[in-house]
Amino acid sequence: MNDMRELLDETFQRAARFMESLPERRVAASHEADELVPALGGALPKKGLPASEILSRLDETGVQGVVASAGPRYFGFVTGGTLPASLAASWLAAAWDQNAFSEASSPVGAAIERVAMRWVLEALDLPADAGTAFVTGATMANFTALAAARRAILLAHGHDADRHGLHAAPEITVVVGEQAHATLFKALGMLGLGRDRVVRVPADDQGRMRVDALPDLDGPVIVCTQAGNVNTGAFDPVGAVCDAVRASDVWVHVDGAFGLWARASARFADLAQGIDAADSWAVDAHKWLNVPYDSGLAIVRDAGALRGAMAVQADYFPAQENREPFQFTPEASRRMRGVEIWAAIASLGRDGIKELVERNCRQARRFAAGLLDAGCEILNDVVLNQVLVAFGDDRATTEVIRGVQREGTCWCGGTRWNGRAAMRISVSSWATTDDDVERSLAAIIRVADAVLGPTPAER
Ligand SMILES: Cc1ncc(COP(=O)(O)O)c(C=O)c1O
Repeated sequence: MNDMRELLDETFQRAARFMESLPERRVAASHEADELVPALGGALPKKGLPASEILSRLDETGVQGVVASAGPRYFGFVTGGTLPASLAASWLAAAWDQNAFSEASSPVGAAIERVAMRWVLEALDLPADAGTAFVTGATMANFTALAAARRAILLAHGHDADRHGLHAAPEITVVVGEQAHATLFKALGMLGLGRDRVVRVPADDQGRMRVDALPDLDGPVIVCTQAGNVNTGAFDPVGAVCDAVRASDVWVHVDGAFGLWARASARFADLAQGIDAADSWAVDAHKWLNVPYDSGLAIVRDAGALRGAMAVQADYFPAQENREPFQFTPEASRRMRGVEIWAAIASLGRDGIKELVERNCRQARRFAAGLLDAGCEILNDVVLNQVLVAFGDDRATTEVIRGVQREGTCWCGGTRWNGRAAMRISVSSWATTDDDVERSLAAIIRVADAVLGPTPAER
């Protein structure tokens, strides 16, 4: 046990040094995976190594491939950092090594989920009795919620998909917005609903599904809406979609991977209006709630539909009086994933979630204003935490993105929007201060000036 204590103490020291380095650390990794493989690999060791040697190899070699995405100036993809309380809870829970599949295997796992679930539903203002599954992220949350949708909508048409699968099932029409996230199609594929067998509803210039372009629908139908376009942050008008399709036999799902957290602030009430009228929702915790990877939630208004889709029984499984986690998730055995969500919400409180969302959105607007002042083009309406920037033609924009990543003050990725190359700035971290935004703005403008040369006015 002394060895164990020494190892954990050493781990703590190394992790603490890393965390302390984050505010000033170069954001991009210094090494590529190909460069790290030889140092981390080699031949399969015949004999095992001491744990402390493994740890030092990880810290001294592996860290060269670490992206400082937990730090304050990472604006790539949609990435939250890790709130201190969540990191600490995650460490302790890793030591506990609970199998959170059931109350019998982990009473604390079951209890944490029940509390975290209630808090999430309250924070997002969704029905308190909805069914909730703690999964790895929005892709699996979409999959899980849509599995419930598929089951319920087919049962309503007299087909038991749990027993018979999709063989001889009535065809489900799946409707998606033209700008639905790529992973939604993957979820549909995994569910046997087909990635391409979908009705795509045209979107407007911000990527919002156009309600006026919804086709006439006749059940069984699943409509997949989106709260938070990964590029623009725009929301489909979910309330209006629900109103438009309610007359028919339709299940409305919301992919709210990051955008759903906007419901924590009344400032975004207009964006998120009517979202609670949907039948199911997917949301990430590892994005805007700032818990460590990997963590997301599937939420289904009819808890029975979710439970029905995920139900499993075996003679050696515990009898179920209370909510059993394994009856709601695709997995059986799994880690105590709810613990970081519980700790994040306990540490932020309702006010803290609201402050985080409002601060990141204000910071996104500051990025847009600063870049506009510097002569860059902002390609989206900055309604949330996402900013799309062009620095001239596609070649120039791509060069600036590369330059910013190499320079290392901050990290922004690229995308294409309405046929043009764009830099994506996604402000999603609890750790980002206003000073980080100013430093990053200055770095981006410096790189752009170097790539593009002086502006016409300066020549
Ligand atoms: C709208 C939307 N849906 C789904 C996803 C996939 O999320 P994850 O990577 O957590 O599975 C994302 C990721 O950015 C997203 O923005």
